[in-house]
Amino acid sequence: MNVYSIPGVRYACESDIQQILSLMESYVASGVLLPRSAADILKNLPATWVSEESGKITGTISLVDYGNNLFEARAFVVKPEYQKKGTGKALVQEVIHYLNAKKKSLNQNVTLFALTYVPEFFKQFGLSIVSKEKFPQKIFDVCQYCKKADNCQEVAVELII
Ligand SMILES: CC(C)(COP(=O)(O)OP(=O)(O)OC[C@H]1O[C@@H](n2cnc3c(N)ncnc32)[C@H](O)[C@@H]1OP(=O)(O)O)[C@@H](O)C(=O)NCCC(=O)NCCS
Repeated sequence: MNVYSIPGVRYACESDIQQILSLMESYVASGVLLPRSAADILKNLPATWVSEESGKITGTISLVDYGNNLFEARAFVVKPEYQKKGTGKALVQEVIHYLNAKKKSLNQNVTLFALTYVPEFFKQFGLSIVSKEKFPQKIFDVCQYCKKADNCQEVAVELII
């Protein structure tokens, strides 16, 4: 059960994977999102949320745990026809609820970060722009395989919770 539920947002389940992949498809093709395989999504399913309207998946977000209380929001997308209706906001708020609970259970601060082309979107939740070099784990884990690695225009944003 999704304890920190925001209406319309729930944890993803295995049967959502194909819809998640198709949501991401056009943004992967245009280079906004990094490609993910069904296996990647399955592996990260316990920290993946979807928004749903009339039984259809309208958006998704995942959290990757790098250890040391560091979490990345990734594979974050809202279906174009559902954008600008508060869905992206609800997904990020759900992630922040989850991390607030994590902070309480750990009794330690946790850090949320994202690499993004839309830093202004994240600022409304208190994230601020920081140097990408702060996240060598991400660079080691994913960026080294990215086609745009030598000319990356993404901006790092961070929130300490
Ligand atoms: C970024 C994205 C997820 C936002 O989803 P969305 O459902 O349209 O966002 P919301 O409707 O919840 O917007 C909430 C608020 O953010 C604002 N906002 C939306 N997109 C924005 C953007 N690109 N830049 C700045 N603000 C933005 C909205 O105007 C709205 O403001 P309001 O509450 O004052 O009305 C969506 O545009 C998307 O899927 N983009 C393509 C993939 C992408 O870039 N993902 C991010 C990867 S890190």
